[in-house]
Amino acid sequence: MEHTGSKNFLLNPNFLPNPILLQDEELNKYILETSVYPREPELLKELREATAKLPNAFFGTAPDAGHWSFYWLLSSPYCSLTIPHDGKITAIDRDRKTYEIGLPIIQKSGVEHKIDYIESPALPVLDNLLEEPKNEGDFDFAFVDADKGNYWNYHERLMKLVKIGGIVMYDNTLWGGAVAKPEEAVPESKRLWRRSTIEFNKSISADPRVEISHVSVGDGIIICRRIG
Ligand SMILES: C[S@@+](CC[C@H](N)C(=O)[O-])C[C@H]1O[C@@H](n2cnc3c(N)ncnc32)[C@H](O)[C@@H]1O
Repeated sequence: MEHTGSKNFLLNPNFLPNPILLQDEELNKYILETSVYPREPELLKELREATAKLPNAFFGTAPDAGHWSFYWLLSSPYCSLTIPHDGKITAIDRDRKTYEIGLPIIQKSGVEHKIDYIESPALPVLDNLLEEPKNEGDFDFAFVDADKGNYWNYHERLMKLVKIGGIVMYDNTLWGGAVAKPEEAVPESKRLWRRSTIEFNKSISADPRVEISHVSVGDGIIICRRIG
């Protein structure tokens, strides 16, 4: 059964960005300055700094969460920089402007040929991919960070597209800590996606097709390995 999608929170004037889970600012700064920034490739630093200036900078995956998951799981500094020359990334964003923020840096780093950018809502793209039997089990990795109300619908499709042994990651799975709070204690603008996140977390935890680890960095990340 399809889970119900949700409204775009940017249309909601009361939307508040999620706080990162680590509430101690000094400690957060300490972690970033000692363990994340010193090892960050120069081009990613440029990308992070370019994004930080934008009004929706809070959209970005937290640097410690990105470092932890992309660096360790993909065993390579941040995907496109070091995937093999003939490796491919399918990047889907319905707003081309978002892709264009990073495009000059992608071009400078010489990895543009590895990225197939598709300007579209993501679900129909995954459905199109699934129409081609050759795409089943063809992906090593997927990262989902948009349209939180549809996470389960992405998951169902990714369980066919990503190979057994492959990794899928979902960002913002602790929704600023709201998942553990009673609804009344959460600002109204966050309630809808709090509910869908709780529902998603419960469903994925019971899904025998994956092993999961719920990691409490940034805004929470669920990392799963497809096992069936
Ligand atoms: C939270 S941001 C992703 C940030 C990114 N992970 C980073 O670290 O920079 C969400 C992005 O998803 C896009 N988006 C929102 N809903 C979408 C949908 N249904 N399909 C595809 N893209 C969507 C938005 O345009 C936005 O660029």
